[in-house]
Amino acid sequence: MPLLYLTRKEHFNAAHRLWNDKWSEEKNFEMFGKCANPHYHGHNFDLYVTVKGQPNPDTGCVMDLKVLKVIIRDQVTDQLDHQNLNLDVEWLKGQMPSIESMAVAMWPRISNALPEGVQLHKITLWETQNNFVEYFGE
Ligand code: NI
Repeated sequence: MPLLYLTRKEHFNAAHRLWNDKWSEEKNFEMFGKCANPHYHGHNFDLYVTVKGQPNPDTGCVMDLKVLKVIIRDQVTDQLDHQNLNLDVEWLKGQMPSIESMAVAMWPRISNALPEGVQLHKITLWETQNNFVEYFGE
């Protein structure tokens, strides 16, 4: 049976601030630039979730994309959309809300919700038109 990779894209908007309390203001702005601005700022995030599996002979599909959509929204994007990532999201508390940390925090939430026989392969999170991160769960 062939192994295929299936991707669903979702979108959310959220605010954050990248700031390390252990550093001086100067060092924070040197590292994070405008992302360190004190009153937060927003991004339009694009999230691509790729699962892998073998197509079910009855449906020809790895999994029902409607089900994948609901998993991603319930577990991740509905909880992040229009929120402040530093303050409002329980499962990001105490973490720097970088796309790297966010991708890692999303992994078990999505992975644990997938149906039998389907594995999470990759989370790709775009923060701007130029910057994105890929996470394979390692
Ligand atoms: Ni930012």
